[in-house]
Amino acid sequence: MSALFTPFRLKDAQLRNRIAIPPMCQYSAEDGVTTDWHLPHYAGLARGGAGLVIVEATAVSPEGRISPGCTGIWTDEQAQGLARIAAAIKAAGAVPGIQIAHAGRKASANRPWEGDDHIAPDDPRGWDTIAPSAIAYGAGLPKVPREMTLADIERVKADFAAAARRAREAGFEWLELHFAHGYLAQSFFSRHANHRTDQYGGDAAGRGRFMEETLAAVRAEWPENLPLTARFGVLEYDGHDEETLVESIDLTRRMKAGGLDLLNVSVGFTIPNTSIPWGTPFLGLIARRVREEAGLPVASSWGLDAPRLAERLVADEQMDLVMIGRAHLANPHYAYELAQELGVDRPTWTLPAPYAHWLEKYRPATELAAAAE
Ligand SMILES: Cc1cc2nc3c(=O)[nH]c(=O)nc-3n(C[C@H](O)[C@H](O)[C@H](O)COP(=O)(O)O)c2cc1C
Repeated sequence: MSALFTPFRLKDAQLRNRIAIPPMCQYSAEDGVTTDWHLPHYAGLARGGAGLVIVEATAVSPEGRISPGCTGIWTDEQAQGLARIAAAIKAAGAVPGIQIAHAGRKASANRPWEGDDHIAPDDPRGWDTIAPSAIAYGAGLPKVPREMTLADIERVKADFAAAARRAREAGFEWLELHFAHGYLAQSFFSRHANHRTDQYGGDAAGRGRFMEETLAAVRAEWPENLPLTARFGVLEYDGHDEETLVESIDLTRRMKAGGLDLLNVSVGFTIPNTSIPWGTPFLGLIARRVREEAGLPVASSWGLDAPRLAERLVADEQMDLVMIGRAHLANPHYAYELAQELGVDRPTWTLPAPYAHWLEKYRPATELAAAAE
């Protein structure tokens, strides 16, 4: 019996297994509106058999986009395109999720394959950025943001709340707040990015206030019966990790009290120079610690796609959901591969019926040739 392939229920969301596809920006929208790229992309991922598919970081306001190609959810037209995607994910048997986001000082950037750096100051495609303090990220993102006023903070919280309402109306059943990866909310929490002296800066309570209040604003708009989750970088790999982790777990506890149902455990990414132990499943034990100490379900990602590893992470209760991203870009039917590798009974059940029937007894010619040798 595979732990990875057991169902998972969170409030009214029933996932067919513990495999989740994390948000992955496609940089293929126009004015925040999804294009012909997105619907087959997300429908294909959902047909692959994962329990949950989370639509990419979708901006709550124009200046909150990472790049000009990012999806948005500040207009009804944008929400209509997203509604078709939510319906397609649901029709394929997965729970439709969406990540809502504000990119803060990392906004106004070129697409990754066109530089991944800030759009040049004289290029009309760029825009002014905002952040807790007027401090640039650095490296390829040198643009200095404008320090947010209290009115800016109120407006962005309201934008998140409006985005949550539109996401619900569009048919999403799982909401993820992007509180990670050096974008706006994460940079409020970061000592590196937040030098404010008012109530939104200073100690951990001050630096966490923006997240707590944004969560509260969203909670008021998002239905009680559906999962409200966040992705949060609980450490930076900057040499202060134990201290940051303790503060992060404390904030997670407060967010749980404020209505958070699950945490997608990630890295802060608020400074360019860190010592992240890439090449290892580095967040497994950290996710378990958050799960135990904050007392709420967790998910995580970054290199967790090896079948036995993914299985063990769930079996050992390091995480409730395993987020598998790039392996699904390479093969949208990666869940089928996982099911085969883990010896799941009739792995074809991960496939849509029009495919499954034909693959019950099928073995690839390469496999037959290898067996004959
Ligand atoms: C193309 C691409 C786009 C991504 N976009 C987002 C995003 O919109 N929001 C987010 O939180 N993480 C984003 N990420 C990070 C992924 O959600 C995931 O954490 C990462 O790919 C590591 O998991 P993996 O090793 O299974 O691919 C992105 C990653 C990729 C490869």
